[in-house]
Amino acid sequence: MERTLSIIKPDGVAKGLIGEVIKRFENNGLKIRAMKMLHLTKKEAEGFYIVHKDRPFYISLTDFMSSGPIVVMVLEGKDAIKKNREIMGATNPKDAAPGTIRRDFGLEIEKNIVHGSDSPESAAFEIGYFFNSPELIPLTLILSPQGRGLR
Ligand code: RTP
Ligand code: MG
Repeated sequence: MERTLSIIKPDGVAKGLIGEVIKRFENNGLKIRAMKMLHLTKKEAEGFYIVHKDRPFYISLTDFMSSGPIVVMVLEGKDAIKKNREIMGATNPKDAAPGTIRRDFGLEIEKNIVHGSDSPESAAFEIGYFFNSPELIPLTLILSPQGRGLR
């Protein structure tokens, strides 16, 4: 089992796609283990995308990501990182395979509806960026023998 961070970006929330995106994850065997809606400050968006700080799109990307509410989720499943990125499709919607979220709903390379971690290292950083330990404790309870039957 693996965990990854998913974000429904401001364009996805604005277009009313929260349910559609979640349905695609659940239909493909990914389980949602934590979730919340946030409106990032510019500084919080910059911190999240620090890995891209020297890229030409960093200012525009962090403006966009702080422009409206987003939904952040922890997804869990076998090969969750790869599976999530398959469901999302290529970064640029025009290169994304038919049936992927970005192909079906993305406008252009920046406004591409969703984010997904790209490695176990980035998943660990990104999950920790949005969810603190108390928020992740219920995940442990779900997995315990006395669990709450969510599996
Ligand atoms: P993400 O991180 O959002 O899951 O997307 P990704 O791995 O497919 O793409 P990445 O290279 O990590 O880029 C992060 C986000 O930056 C925006 N972007 N704009 N204008 C551009 O050339 C450009 N390139 C990337 C996109 O919103 C992309 O998802
Ligand atoms: Mg990326």
